[in-house]
Amino acid sequence: MAIQLKTSLPGPNSQLLMKERRKHVARGPFHTTPIFASSAKGALVHDVDGNTLIDLACGIGVTNVGHAPPELVQAIQAQASQMLHTSFNVLPYRQYIDVAAALNQFTPGDFPKKTLLLNSGAEAVENAVKIARAFTKRSSVVCFEHGYHGRTYMAMTLTSKVKPYRQDFGPFASEVYRAPFPYAYRWPTTSDPEQVSRECFDRFEEIVGTQVGATNTAAVIIEPVLGEGGFVPAPKAFMKLIREYCTTHGIVLIADEIQTGFGRTGSLFACEQLEIAPDLITSAKGLAGGLPLAAVTGRAEIMDAPMEGGIGGTYGGNPVACASALAVFRMFQDGKLLLRAQDLGNQISTRLNSWKSQYPIIGDVRGLGPMRALELVKDQNTKAPHRDATAALIQYCYENGVVILSAGTFGNVIRLLVPLVIQDVELKEALDVLESGLNFLSNKKPSG
Ligand SMILES: Cc1ncc(COP(=O)(O)O)c(C=O)c1O
Repeated sequence: MAIQLKTSLPGPNSQLLMKERRKHVARGPFHTTPIFASSAKGALVHDVDGNTLIDLACGIGVTNVGHAPPELVQAIQAQASQMLHTSFNVLPYRQYIDVAAALNQFTPGDFPKKTLLLNSGAEAVENAVKIARAFTKRSSVVCFEHGYHGRTYMAMTLTSKVKPYRQDFGPFASEVYRAPFPYAYRWPTTSDPEQVSRECFDRFEEIVGTQVGATNTAAVIIEPVLGEGGFVPAPKAFMKLIREYCTTHGIVLIADEIQTGFGRTGSLFACEQLEIAPDLITSAKGLAGGLPLAAVTGRAEIMDAPMEGGIGGTYGGNPVACASALAVFRMFQDGKLLLRAQDLGNQISTRLNSWKSQYPIIGDVRGLGPMRALELVKDQNTKAPHRDATAALIQYCYENGVVILSAGTFGNVIRLLVPLVIQDVELKEALDVLESGLNFLSNKKPSG
């Protein structure tokens, strides 16, 4: 068994550290799993009390290639011993160019591309908007309900959910407009993806046409699969309509692939499966497998719109983070990790779907590839979100050795962000814990 629990969780050392944390660290950062990590390898994390847990959170979708794979560790060590930092804005270096070239090659879209490197997802979103505005000389940005784009001012404004992300932080950035997302499970008239797409697009077109003006719109930004919003994939039909609309009106289409990128959905980028090529793509998280690195990649003419010196930063594209990203690209190179991601997606989807008929608390099972989720409800007919059960299930999971995250505007989605290197036995063990948690909540006997 991979899970090894030597204490109840959180253990005594974690509890002591939590007291220290409360004393010294600002209240704001929340801990989904209040256990202090000491080391992590592959799909396993070890805590300060000697416990071993299976990680289905990947540090919020970052360690897609697993914790500390030797390929990354060696690349990071080698780079660190050569050069830590010069700032690309002062003394440029080759590693930055190599990451940019790889992103230009492997992001969807068969056109000349260029890339800008940054530190975090939110910073990539900020820069994508700046670049789109500079290119179009327009100011408005259209985003979607349930969307999440980060915590800096523009990214936070583009983020839909008020608590905790926007609470007390206003005023927000101006010229941001929000349209409905094709959330089939909660769409009022139908759950058919084609019809949801059509109706949702009609609303989008009306909002842009009447409240914003297509000719004032610099960019439309969308997550191809909602991340924090609850792992809702946008149907292909919807993405196609949005793509056509943006092309017709000269609007820059930005796909935020910060959570969906780097194998998370079974392809390197989710837009490949949704069969569209955005004008700009933001990536971060899985890009460098655990070091802070983010990117905006897109059409060369759009990327070149800001003047020289207009975009950049002190740390963006740090050489150590770049070395790590290049190692991530090498790990994906032979295609085996993506095949494994697809296989994991099938395994997870089969298991989660098999639970749907057994547990009335499960309202919806959905996702793309291994990016899978359960939406928990109080009643399958009313679809009333079951936030308390979601929190209880997450607590049950960590107390029994599985690190797992919630998501969703209503806080009622269990999302799985498995490391793509997880072994079948580890996945089974982790899903067994999740299932016994569902039994615990439903007061049912395990199904065997
Ligand atoms: C889709 C999406 N965009 C942007 C961000 C913000 O990234 P970061 O936390 O690195 O700023 C996130 C983070 O969860 C995300 O999921």
